[in-house]
Amino acid sequence: MLKVEGLYKSYGKDTILEDFNLQADRGEIIGLVGENGAGKSTLLRIIATLNRPTSGEVYIDERSYRKNYKKIRQKIGYVPQEIELWEELSVMENMRFFEALSSVSRSVAELKKMLSDLHLEKYNTKVNRLSGGMKRKLNLAISLIHAPELLLLDEPTAGIDLKSRIEIGKFLKALSDKGTLIIYTSHDMTEIKELCDRTIFIGKDPFYKKILTDD
Ligand SMILES: Nc1ncnc2c1ncn2[C@@H]1O[C@H](COP(=O)(O)OP(=O)(O)O)[C@@H](O)[C@H]1O
Ligand SMILES: [Mg+2]
Repeated sequence: MLKVEGLYKSYGKDTILEDFNLQADRGEIIGLVGENGAGKSTLLRIIATLNRPTSGEVYIDERSYRKNYKKIRQKIGYVPQEIELWEELSVMENMRFFEALSSVSRSVAELKKMLSDLHLEKYNTKVNRLSGGMKRKLNLAISLIHAPELLLLDEPTAGIDLKSRIEIGKFLKALSDKGTLIIYTSHDMTEIKELCDRTIFIGKDPFYKKILTDD
């Protein structure tokens, strides 16, 4: 479904990604690991169409990004490393705000179902009263409003409580069983090994590569 071919990304003289290649199918969960600054977020943003590579190509279902950014964007859900929500609005108000911006229309009942699937039933609570884990879940729910086929998550479980972490893990597993391709970054090797079908190492620090191959 997804093909990344000979991807390069440089910022000035710094080459962040060098000939990166990847092929992935529906229903896979792929973990992306590497040291801080390795280029994980850069790679996810390129696959999310939010950043352009210096050279190389990305395809979804054989369709090149270059000519089809708009169409391709509708197939993708992306949750950035930094949480992006309206803090003064309630959980449901946030859902309705982003639903209005999205390419599809969803009823309040459908939005509620998405939240309850993630065990986030505090529909009327203001976001600034939520825990970090709950905010993560809300960010995730928002990214799923348009039913993306490819879901990109940048450190979705970093710094959140264990219960939310387990719930998010189970949720992602179920989502991949229904055919969504999920690519996510994490520092938690136990989690990566448990959840992912495949792990990809990027960066220059062999430490990460080594713990992946040790068992
Ligand atoms: N917009 C940018 N301009 C210049 N350098 C950047 C920019 N975005 C990221 N970088 C640099 O690219 C490298 C990779 O960053 P990033 O993709 O955030 O790594 P990771 O997510 O693996 O920690 C870092 O050295 C970072 O400073
Ligand atoms: Mg990052």
